[in-house]
Amino acid sequence: MTADGPPTTAPADRAAVLCGLGHWLPPTVVTNEELSSRLDTSEEWIRSRTGISTRHLAGPNTATSDLAVEAGARALKSAGGGEVQALVLATTTPDHPCPATAPDVAARLGMTGIAAFDVSAVCTGFLYGLATAAGLIAAGTAERVLLIAAETFSTLLDPQDRTTVPIFGDGAGAVVLRRGSAEEPGAIGPVVLGSDGGRRELIAVDAGGSRRRADGPADTAPDGYFRMRGREVFRQAVERMGEASRSAVAAAGWSLETVDRLVAHQANARITSFVASELDIPTARCVHNIGRVGNTAAASIPLLLSQAAQDGTLTPGHRVLMTAFGGGLTWGATTLVWPGPDLG
Ligand code: COA
Repeated sequence: MTADGPPTTAPADRAAVLCGLGHWLPPTVVTNEELSSRLDTSEEWIRSRTGISTRHLAGPNTATSDLAVEAGARALKSAGGGEVQALVLATTTPDHPCPATAPDVAARLGMTGIAAFDVSAVCTGFLYGLATAAGLIAAGTAERVLLIAAETFSTLLDPQDRTTVPIFGDGAGAVVLRRGSAEEPGAIGPVVLGSDGGRRELIAVDAGGSRRRADGPADTAPDGYFRMRGREVFRQAVERMGEASRSAVAAAGWSLETVDRLVAHQANARITSFVASELDIPTARCVHNIGRVGNTAAASIPLLLSQAAQDGTLTPGHRVLMTAFGGGLTWGATTLVWPGPDLG
């Protein structure tokens, strides 16, 4: 505390603590059988290679902000209402290239005037957003932050591409973080983040940015679609999520044996199994929803947290390890002890 300035607070009292949770899925559900009727694939191939049976898809009149508003409203309600001073939106699929989508979401939630901006880290977006939100609280910029991760990833896909269409789904998850103590349940542990731009070619949408312009001569339809080198992505995902998880657990002062729940980005059920096996975490401690929702990119982790809190897979006191991997490449991991029963 300074003599004549405002009080300063020890960093341990400016931890970000989870106090609200919510999600939203667009109502249209598409099965593997439906996809197999129009793509050169089969129900069995999709399920056995990815673990996915169904995914939710946004219709042509639904934008990312529409999903974000629904998830954000539910998270705010779960937090008991009250003000937030910042809204961070993690997304790969903003409503427009300009402006960011977060200010629109904030306004539609009745929060004109607060700080609002987007974070772009593809499937690691939620963890990058979590570190950002925690930083806003630590810096004294906000006492409470609404972090939403929302995607309409289906809008990036070539509808004829059997290697991507079966994998991705649309959806949104959101959390409210409040200022609190690093020692209390719900406090977000140290967030480990990393990137490797040298491997950006593994996951990409080539056209539409400043490098290859949407209206330029090099633009052809396939260049505007999402593409990935699946097998190499798979290998990198297992390696990076494993490394990041080890670092986050060590930074939190935990050991891997004490992890009760592994909440890994839902990219592929086999990827989660490999990561768990790499970390010696029993399969029974892995939390899944990929079978029902597919890979929802940045939305994956908060959507999974929200559903798992609702169905009782996450209960107060559980030591939770979260990890994600995505385009960029980007990756990350963090920890928290699951807070009281009133979440979800
Ligand atoms: N139906 C049937 N066959 C398919 C198919 C589909 N939907 N998609 C790909 N195939 C074929 C390929 O064309 C290939 O055929 P070929 O051997 O004749 O060339 C064969 O299956 C194997 O392809 P491959 O890509 O090596 O398969 P895979 O076992 O690695 O599984 C993924 C493909 C995409 C499911 C897997 O690589 C994966 O999950 N990668 C990570 C994806 C991801 O999570 N991305 C997001 C990053 S967060």
